[in-house]
Amino acid sequence: MDAETGSLNPVEWVGEEDGFLKILDQTRLPHVHEILECRHMDAVWDAIRSLSIRGAPAIGVAGAYGVVLGVQAAPDRPVAAFLDHLHQVADRFRACRPTAVNLPASMDRMEAVARGAGTDSTEALSTGALRSRLLLEARRIHEEEQAACRAMARHGASLIEDGHGVLTHCNAGGLATAGMGTALGVVIEAHEQGKRIHVFADETRPLLQGARLTVLELMRAGVDVTLICDSAAARVMHEGRVNAVLVGADRIAGNGDTANKIGTYSLALAAHAHEIPFYVVAPTSTIDPDLESGQGIPIEVRDPEEVTGTESGTGSGFMGIRTAPEGARVYNPAFDVTPWRYIRAIVTEKGILQPPFEDSIRRILRALRVEAPEHT
Ligand code: MRU
Repeated sequence: MDAETGSLNPVEWVGEEDGFLKILDQTRLPHVHEILECRHMDAVWDAIRSLSIRGAPAIGVAGAYGVVLGVQAAPDRPVAAFLDHLHQVADRFRACRPTAVNLPASMDRMEAVARGAGTDSTEALSTGALRSRLLLEARRIHEEEQAACRAMARHGASLIEDGHGVLTHCNAGGLATAGMGTALGVVIEAHEQGKRIHVFADETRPLLQGARLTVLELMRAGVDVTLICDSAAARVMHEGRVNAVLVGADRIAGNGDTANKIGTYSLALAAHAHEIPFYVVAPTSTIDPDLESGQGIPIEVRDPEEVTGTESGTGSGFMGIRTAPEGARVYNPAFDVTPWRYIRAIVTEKGILQPPFEDSIRRILRALRVEAPEHT
């Protein structure tokens, strides 16, 4: 099965508590369609770290299933030791990729559900029952992300008009979310509503998620898409071909400051200069209730070889071609933070948040706490 025709489902749990996780290796797309069968938590950890699975919601989902694998190693321990082991597993995933809040947030939920299950009768509860609860919670996280994508697509499509040109960055599609996507979900929904839209996809250096993944997903969905170099974005805006910029998010602070793939901030500045609305599309699971502003968002700095490439092609650079002199100094931050004032609106599954985001985010978090007190 090749990538043009094969399923692009990024993550699938197979079986029950003793099952395993299938991950579509996104580092090999668009040319090779390879499924990784992860039967140990380390394989899931490696897949997240290497970007075989990537995108904030998708790594939250994969991490949750990774925990289910992690506790397979501790079936017969006493409950207290099982919970200790669970904590170690969760901490390992928390540290895997630091910027997207979805991964630590999933870990918090997995730990809370196991601890909560044991509050009244910890010693009486079997580890078998705890493992069932953990798998149930991982499935819930997965299903909630899928439902959130559908709702964001419906809300966000109202912002896109027939004939619009839309610019997007990185990949915020089904591959990044385990659902129909955030920014790309909006685009696909608008397309399915019959609106004629044209998408400009930034290639997204250094790992080319835009060129490899966004273009693949949009072509498969029948959406009109043109690939551009990241550095062409301001030019395309200047030519009057962009009516809206739509991006996903990895972490949104309480004031609306938004971390997303490196290059997003420059896009927001260019959009601002051209008076083009800049929209963030992200589920409420991407909001970090503990951060007042973007200053506290940890920015992942990745391997220099992603930028320089490698002679052997064995490093994390994709092309296997060294493009910089041996020994070149490299700085490779994988994300940046767009200040809230450049964001016209944030599309969530609960509706479209308008500035001042401090207020709209506070209101939505309060409503979520009322809806699902056990998750907050
Ligand atoms: O490094 P990646 O590929 O995981 O970065 C992904 C992004 O920056 C996405 O835009 C973000 O996670 C939102 S995806 C719904």
